[in-house]
Amino acid sequence: MRLLAAAAARRASGAVVHDLTTGQPSTPAPVAVRAAAARALDSDLIGYTMSTGIPTLRSAIAAHYERTYGLTVDPGEVVVTTGSSGGFILTFLAAFAAGDRVVVTRPGYPAYRNTLAALGCDVLELPADASSRFQPTLAQLQQLDRPPAGLIVASPANPTGTMLPADELAAIAGWCARNGVRLISDEIYHGITYSLDPTCAWQTDRSAVVVNSFSKYWAMTGWRLGWLLCPADLVDAVDRLASNLALCPPTLAQHAAVRAFDDYTELDERVAGYRRNRALLLPGLRELGLTRLAPADGAFYAYVDVSEFCADSMAFCYRMLDEIGVAVAPGVDFDPVGGHRFIRMSFAGDESGISGALSALGDWLPSQRQ
Ligand SMILES: Cc1ncc(COP(=O)(O)O)c(C=O)c1O
Repeated sequence: MRLLAAAAARRASGAVVHDLTTGQPSTPAPVAVRAAAARALDSDLIGYTMSTGIPTLRSAIAAHYERTYGLTVDPGEVVVTTGSSGGFILTFLAAFAAGDRVVVTRPGYPAYRNTLAALGCDVLELPADASSRFQPTLAQLQQLDRPPAGLIVASPANPTGTMLPADELAAIAGWCARNGVRLISDEIYHGITYSLDPTCAWQTDRSAVVVNSFSKYWAMTGWRLGWLLCPADLVDAVDRLASNLALCPPTLAQHAAVRAFDDYTELDERVAGYRRNRALLLPGLRELGLTRLAPADGAFYAYVDVSEFCADSMAFCYRMLDEIGVAVAPGVDFDPVGGHRFIRMSFAGDESGISGALSALGDWLPSQRQ
């Protein structure tokens, strides 16, 4: 956040900023969604809804699973939430008690760790590196002294973009089910994948909680809408928590999102844009000598080992911004232990931002080699 403020100050002063920090699409919500929002404003009260979401949206989400994964989901198993962020809070509160041990991967999306800690859970970070695509392994779980109350996986993940291959996700989901571990599968980057096909945790086991969102593939971050596929034993608790904590997810966004599944072509064209950006950024970084990149299977991030150029990626990011106007996220945001060796570069923006950053880095990086 401090780096973002520094980048904004630099931009305000009129200096150039090649911004590769962003964790969100650079395009607006789909056309049909925006049109539906305009119609709903004129025709609907935009009052409270059921705490689990309007039935038409829950049905539309259930149909998305049939279409995309061949998975039959009952609309009653879908809970619409205030972004996936709201879904995580409901899930953690419904599934865990204070003091429960919940396993996350390091590096990983920092809100898992922070939200769990705020709720009094005991967070255990499993270190992950390039040898396992920065994903947790079954062997690591089997070596724990006792099965934890929960495990969070994300595939594709933030900050690495890496995915769990289908057989590994299935093996982990099976282990969780056999050992009474509540698996929470963050599938928010599904739809934005390049090399592997994403699988849904419910294709293996329906005691897992699947967390998803309109934020990334549908480019609707600020509409604050996500959903859970919620196991039968948690639906009631989640429903009661949702109505107490926020009454309902945003109503205007719900009416609009019913139309989010009308046209996947528009969405996939955007993914094609990310794919072009990826094809520019990854080889460009390798040419500059930044060869140790996490396999960017999905999402829109490159997680880059910069230890040949710095001992402290936070200081490196500030220098890079100050000296050449390239803004990226330091790895310590995602990994407090090993993140000082990494940076995260987003390719969600436009091609010109990426080529501008690459050419600025080309002139500057050789002087940084340690
Ligand atoms: C892996 C991951 N999960 C969850 C979220 C939260 O997204 P939202 O609350 O907008 O659905 C993000 C946001 O960047 C993310 O990267």
